[in-house]
Amino acid sequence: MIILLEPQADAKAVSAALQGLGLWTRQLEGEREPAILEVEAHSARVEPAAVLALPGVAQVRPRRSQHPRVDAMPRTFALRCGSGLVIRFGEEAVLAAGPCAVESPEQIQQLAALVASSGARLLRGGAFKPRTSPYSFQGAGAEALRWLAEAAAAHHLGVITEVMSELQVDAVAEVADLIQVGSRNMQNFALLAAVGRKGKAVLLKRGRGASVEDWLMAGEHLLAHGAAWVVFCERGIAGLSNETRNTLDLGAVALLRHAHKLPVAVDPSHGAGRRDLVVPLAKAGVAAGADLVLVEVHPQPALAKSDGPQALLPDQLLQLAAGLGLQPLEEPPAIGTAHTSRLPEFYKKSVEERRRQLARTLGLSADAQRYLRHGGLDMAIADRMSENVVSTFALPMALGLNFRVNGRDHVVPMVVEEPSVVAAASNAARMVRATGGFRGDATTSVMTAQVQMDHVPDTAAAAKVIEERRRELVAIANEAIPRMVARGGGCVDLDVRVLDAENGLLVVHLYVDVGDAMGANVVDTVAERVAPMLQEWVGGDIGLRILSNLPLRRLVHVECDVGADFLGGEELADGIARASRFAEMDPFRASTHNKGILNGIDAAAVALGQDWRAIEAGAHAFAGLSSQYRPLCTWQRTEKGLHGVLEMPLAIGTVGGSTRAHPGVRTAMEIVRVDSARQLAVVMAAVGMASNLAALRALAGEGIQQGHMRLHARKSELDPHLGKAGAA
Ligand code: MEV
Repeated sequence: MIILLEPQADAKAVSAALQGLGLWTRQLEGEREPAILEVEAHSARVEPAAVLALPGVAQVRPRRSQHPRVDAMPRTFALRCGSGLVIRFGEEAVLAAGPCAVESPEQIQQLAALVASSGARLLRGGAFKPRTSPYSFQGAGAEALRWLAEAAAAHHLGVITEVMSELQVDAVAEVADLIQVGSRNMQNFALLAAVGRKGKAVLLKRGRGASVEDWLMAGEHLLAHGAAWVVFCERGIAGLSNETRNTLDLGAVALLRHAHKLPVAVDPSHGAGRRDLVVPLAKAGVAAGADLVLVEVHPQPALAKSDGPQALLPDQLLQLAAGLGLQPLEEPPAIGTAHTSRLPEFYKKSVEERRRQLARTLGLSADAQRYLRHGGLDMAIADRMSENVVSTFALPMALGLNFRVNGRDHVVPMVVEEPSVVAAASNAARMVRATGGFRGDATTSVMTAQVQMDHVPDTAAAAKVIEERRRELVAIANEAIPRMVARGGGCVDLDVRVLDAENGLLVVHLYVDVGDAMGANVVDTVAERVAPMLQEWVGGDIGLRILSNLPLRRLVHVECDVGADFLGGEELADGIARASRFAEMDPFRASTHNKGILNGIDAAAVALGQDWRAIEAGAHAFAGLSSQYRPLCTWQRTEKGLHGVLEMPLAIGTVGGSTRAHPGVRTAMEIVRVDSARQLAVVMAAVGMASNLAALRALAGEGIQQGHMRLHARKSELDPHLGKAGAA
């Protein structure tokens, strides 16, 4: 980044203020004015807007980094392992342990059991070993990969193993959840390209003599060829000391984690080369910011075929894991259990039994299992989420079951105080499942920013100018959100709307692709950035600069068919179609009909940390777009039963907001298992559709009170004023 200062600005003072933001600068142009500062490579990632806000800064120009893909890589990610385990990388301390080399099936099975019981999540072990001497053990080869995979699957662990040549890439990628590129190969660019092309996560060890910049560039090679993520692993560099095998560069760990905001691992086994120093260095690595600690362990180090002196003894591994606060999974998932949302008779089980079944079926992380057991919200997190906090407030978290959406099963967490919502949605999802489940798609994740301009002298001329300078305006908008642009999103288009020519009221819509985010902050940033430009071009006064909660370019569309026999007969199917028609003709009914849809969507939205007020605002505005308020979901008779269609805006995200901060939301995200915000939108819309179908079925049949009251009765037993008598 290049920073141009205002004339007479005090370059030293600005430079000090920049250091406060984590930016280290040097002055480019000597004494000449205006002074120009260049941000050094090893500075923190900071939004240009934050720099621009500093006194004395006139302009900020992004200078193209040599490693833009590394810079844009998120620090946290979900590593979905072949064994079914999901590791929230960057959100929980992760330990990887195992032998230096996989020596035999018995050895790796025994160690995998130890590793799993320690609370470590990843099993490491080399099948192909880079050895200084050609006479040393070179690894057991492809066979060892199979032993490693079997041991990891049996103990529900992820796998890290090293690839040494392009010829081994296919075989290693098949087994490794995190493919290791060793320090000797850090700059083997042909190998990096071949590994990158596998599209998997890679553990990139730092070369013994490599600078941090060389290491980052090697990461760029991997990402440029398609690697999903790169975890940078510090394993010691050449130093002055002969007492340790290498010099573990903890400064580099801190730099990559805190300034570059990258996922970082530390390998104290190779750093120290001696067992007695591994545990203290591992702890130091975590203190410096490592997300992952990689250690070697062996039951009989003296007999190890390689690197015995640095291998921990089993007890030392358990001590290290306990010191890092790790716990073994309470409920290892059943091996080979297919992921299903169909959990028959779930409601008949105790809460404890339900938790255990869920953990086994989905292979939930230890964090998620802990959250389900204890619930709640840490007061320190609560205090950061709102103002004037005095306590936290709990509601039941339940599961919407039986959902099959676009051929995939999803268990949907739902938080709601109204009895019958979860049971009704699950019941309807079971009926829809019988005919293949829900099918749907979400359009692009494009949100709308609105900039209001008042008293524009000539609105027609203004509209023309803005249209003509469309590309320029889009580019200015994108300058304000470089990280979104780097992630493939950004401002894509704009519209001008003259609302009141007489009073010069004109509104500019900027359309911003926000990817997997809900996007409110990004969109508001864009609106605020372009407003002064618009004023310069067309005059008038700047009014509001804010997103619109009616994002017409972010719609979700879901359909389903359901057989009359599953609904309970032709009469009920007719009744539901008539109820749908009623809602289409009458806004009084459509409002209640839509409430039934939002019963499901809101319950999922609360559990998944979404802005449900924005969802409600969008849904109702969309329903009222034509001259009459309309139902969001309609049902029509078919030969076999009913065909349903739902369409509505749904601005939700799988990143940002409370998706990371709130442990309950993280757990809910782990349960619902989606890969993108668009996929989540389709799942949530399917829940709304199921809620609607269940409500209409009850209304067209026995009436809502019957079923409702059975469940309400259970709730009123808890009412201190009503007691059992009240429920009766
Ligand atoms: C109650 O929460 C929702 C319903 O009123 C919806 C509807 O009438 O369709 C049952």
